[in-house]
Amino acid sequence: MSLNAYGLLRPLLFTIEPETAHNLTLKAMKAGVFPSCTPVKNEALKIELWGLKFPNPIGLSAGFDKNAEVIAPAFKLGFGFVEAGTVTPKPQEGNPKPRVFRDPTHEAVINAMGFPNDGMTVFKANLEQFLSRRHKAQGAVGINIGMNKTQDQPAKDYCALIKMLGPMADYLTINISSPNTPGLRDLQKREPLLELLSAIKDERQKSCGDHPPPILVKLAPDLEDAQQEELAGALLEAEIDGIILGNTTLARPENLPANFAARTGGLSGKPLTQRSTAIISNFYKLTKGQTPIIGVGGISNGRDAYDKIKAGASLVQLYTGLIFQGPAIASTINRELVELLRADGLNNIAQAIGVSVKL
Ligand SMILES: Cc1cc2nc3c(=O)[nH]c(=O)nc-3n(C[C@H](O)[C@H](O)[C@H](O)COP(=O)(O)O)c2cc1C
Repeated sequence: MSLNAYGLLRPLLFTIEPETAHNLTLKAMKAGVFPSCTPVKNEALKIELWGLKFPNPIGLSAGFDKNAEVIAPAFKLGFGFVEAGTVTPKPQEGNPKPRVFRDPTHEAVINAMGFPNDGMTVFKANLEQFLSRRHKAQGAVGINIGMNKTQDQPAKDYCALIKMLGPMADYLTINISSPNTPGLRDLQKREPLLELLSAIKDERQKSCGDHPPPILVKLAPDLEDAQQEELAGALLEAEIDGIILGNTTLARPENLPANFAARTGGLSGKPLTQRSTAIISNFYKLTKGQTPIIGVGGISNGRDAYDKIKAGASLVQLYTGLIFQGPAIASTINRELVELLRADGLNNIAQAIGVSVKL
């Protein structure tokens, strides 16, 4: 579908309550009545990281496909990798509805979902179905894991998830940054984080045999400078494989309409673009470019993606941009990236990583 076609469909889709519209989209994707876009194939976009081959650096970020139901159709939209989840051990309903709100003027969303999902057993069955038919040329599949709302010993849930799903993951994301699960963000402190990561690494070693998936930690964009420093140090100490920066924000930029800004939950989309790029740049500096970063937050065009790569991201992801720009977004961004690289005289995105940061 072209962006123009989506421009016509969007007003209609936006008359539907956001979560209902999302569920309809998932149904259409599962039924195969959703458009596919010609993926952009270009040597300049290919990148290898953690021994995984990515056909392009644009990923679908967590939250869109919580139950691993639409991984194959997501690849058909031209994404280079897909992160499914957040999945929790037990199924849970999440917070009361309505819990997703759009602001089309600022291309922003606030969500207070609270990890509604069908639980790890259903997730596993869905993922197995995808993997049994997986096309070799397709990109990586990450699994984003989180704890149930009722769990007061986080390590138990993360380890149960790794035991069941770790062997199937190209990479694992430890989500400790969603703002809608009470206590989750408290794990973004040195001691609790090091303790959790030690348990997680032990479980990976036990459960994942000869092919342990890389472990990435997803952080909030709301961390103060001192917290960023503390966490970067802890992540280096724990020899973590990657960092995802970042999740939705609790901040509310002043220009948002008051009735939208007053909603409870995490804000995503365009108002987050600069903040997330700044935190990527800072973590790239703090980790001296040693720990690969996946940059996410308010990406809606090639320039946004390129800015995050130049700030230190090796890969990028998006979710909210897909809602406002439509299903052609990954292909459009990839085409724009090829042009941006060419204009800078670069042969491959790897050459652009971190170029705007002084180490
Ligand atoms: C409706 C919605 C649900 C989300 N659910 C999750 C989730 O389950 N796990 C997670 O790690 N991030 C989740 N996110 C956060 C996104 O993955 C992403 O980090 C954030 O929205 C910033 O990127 P964006 O501006 O491109 O959307 C969700 C975002 C939205 C809008």
